[in-house]
Amino acid sequence: MQIFWCLLVSMLGVTEGADWCYKSQVSCENKCKGPDEWKDIASTCGSEHQSPVNIVTKRVVTNNLTPFRFQGYQHAFHSIITNNGHTVKVNLSGDAVIDGAGLSENYKAVEVHFHWGKNGGPGSEHTIDGEQYPMEMHIVHIKQMYSSVQEAINDSSGVAVLGFLYEESESANKKYESIINALPNITLPGNKSTLGPVSLDMLIPSHDTLMHYFRYKGSLTTPDCAESVIWTVFENTIKLNKMQLSAFSDLWFENGIAMTETFRPVQPLNGRDIFYSGSNTASVSTVLVVSTLIISFLTL
Ligand SMILES: *[C@@H]1O[C@H](CO)[C@@H](O)[C@H](O)[C@H]1NC(C)=O
Ligand SMILES: *[C@@H]1O[C@H](CO)[C@@H](O)[C@H](O)[C@H]1NC(C)=O
Ligand SMILES: *[C@@H]1O[C@H](CO)[C@@H](O)[C@H](O)[C@H]1NC(C)=O
Ligand SMILES: *[C@@H]1O[C@H](CO)[C@@H](O)[C@H](O)[C@H]1NC(C)=O
Ligand SMILES: [Zn+2]
Repeated sequence: MQIFWCLLVSMLGVTEGADWCYKSQVSCENKCKGPDEWKDIASTCGSEHQSPVNIVTKRVVTNNLTPFRFQGYQHAFHSIITNNGHTVKVNLSGDAVIDGAGLSENYKAVEVHFHWGKNGGPGSEHTIDGEQYPMEMHIVHIKQMYSSVQEAINDSSGVAVLGFLYEESESANKKYESIINALPNITLPGNKSTLGPVSLDMLIPSHDTLMHYFRYKGSLTTPDCAESVIWTVFENTIKLNKMQLSAFSDLWFENGIAMTETFRPVQPLNGRDIFYSGSNTASVSTVLVVSTLIISFLTL
């Protein structure tokens, strides 16, 4: 009966014009377009350089990518946190900036959002050697000259996303309290809440543990999947306990469906290289040479 009804519904073409959604939202009664059908909404989603990807650590190309320089990451802000029907999103003013790390120019942070599983189960977008982590945070940056992500995706390197993977820990991560405490206020799509004072530094591991990362060229992981993203996925992870990871599963999509498994499946690399910032010895020795030159100049 169920199968017959589904068949009838699909024969009537009820999916036409439907919004995009994650696989966990698709059912016979809820005819939205899951990841396999995103290319029908936005053809770029079926293109060759898509994200996320599985990172095979024994195939990465080790490169002398230098560490990031983070500016304004320590500034506390009171942003709006929103359930936008697809994820939890925090907008940022753009005064936090990254450079270095092989980027050709400065990029400013405009948004933070998350991808998660079900009650702390697998939920990251990027996987490492096939392992899916319980959650992934994306800090979306755009070149400083642009005023929105919409404008930046016109540029093939207009967007730089920093991806952080999470692992489960025994103890709660106190620095995440303002985010976790805001979740019960944004259970439904369209709900907004004001975040207590939080800085980007509170949400990421300390800078000195972030010199090891993976880098490749890819896309936004939601439609329209624009291929304008310089991706960074850090090797070090953020620790939250089971209760904190599970708190995200208490939110809802439209139509009373639990907001869980908010990730796109991994996409083929199609010959792309993934670089790894393996060794920073070159940059360290450059610093040494330069400082030796300055010292010898000063002592002349
Ligand atoms: C976030 O967006 C809201 C409007 O939705 C705006 O009032 C607020 O100033 C923005 N916050 C930042 C930090 O840009
Ligand atoms: C994207 O680029 C095209 C052509 O260069 C331009 O016409 C369009 O206005 C740009 N879109 C945005 C949002 O900047
Ligand atoms: C949640 O909403 C209530 C009622 O509007 C408010 O008093 C409370 O401070 C909010 N909590 C957080 C963490 O935003
Ligand atoms: C969340 O959205 C629902 C439906 O739009 C609304 O009834 C409810 O008051 C909102 N809750 C908060 C805390 O804004
Ligand atoms: Zn994302």
